[in-house]
Amino acid sequence: MEVVSSFVDFFEARLYERLNFLNPKPIGLPTGRTMEPIYEELVVRLQCWPQSDFDRLRLGWNSFNLDEYLGLGIDHSQSFHSYMAHYLGQPLSLKQSQMHVPNGLSINPEIEAQSYVRALNKAGGIGIQVLGLGANGHVGFNEPPCGPWETCRVVSLSNSTRKQNAFAFENDLKKVPSKAITLGLKDILRADEIHLVVFGSDKADILFKLLNTRPQDSLPASWLRTHNRVFLWADEDALSAENFL
Ligand code: GLP
Repeated sequence: MEVVSSFVDFFEARLYERLNFLNPKPIGLPTGRTMEPIYEELVVRLQCWPQSDFDRLRLGWNSFNLDEYLGLGIDHSQSFHSYMAHYLGQPLSLKQSQMHVPNGLSINPEIEAQSYVRALNKAGGIGIQVLGLGANGHVGFNEPPCGPWETCRVVSLSNSTRKQNAFAFENDLKKVPSKAITLGLKDILRADEIHLVVFGSDKADILFKLLNTRPQDSLPASWLRTHNRVFLWADEDALSAENFL
């Protein structure tokens, strides 16, 4: 897909640029099917870097993920911890401590959410935030309705989101966790720049709505429009809604 390569061109260049900063801000990363081809191509590109640059990239890596399911940890194949270890951690030999993901197994998830965002803020907040788009307009796990003041917290997942993600749980809705910890829109909107990545025809209707509504709680991603450095990376299928034509 052309847009995958274009996005990876951009992201690779930003990661290279980051090597020159003394204290670069953390990178904000999502999970999800949209990101799989991006992470795969990115790893191939990064592995072609000269060894000294690659080593500096690895040593300086500092990413914060958006979210994690409550009840799932690194040992669960469908946790976002495992996803990140699979797509970036293992191929790039990154330490787990460099790839922050909320602890879904915490005995006190609310406290975990607060300390997660505290650690992010202490690290300077997010520089580049990459986002996927949920079919109901969520970003991270900020389910509708959601306002722009919400910070990192425990959330209940909507049935539509649980159905959307059931493919990863043998299509058994009962196995899909019902809660998660997510960074809030407020934390996301504090990023220096935001890149929303939207692929596939099943996102076409929500993308059309997103591009044609004023910011509102019923479409959480619409609050991104209030940010002054937000970029959209969409493929042809995502731009294929009848309304676009
Ligand atoms: C998920 C995640 C988001 C992700 C979005 C899109 O539920 N919480 O971080 O970006 O929904 O997922 P996908 O790329 O699989 O369509």
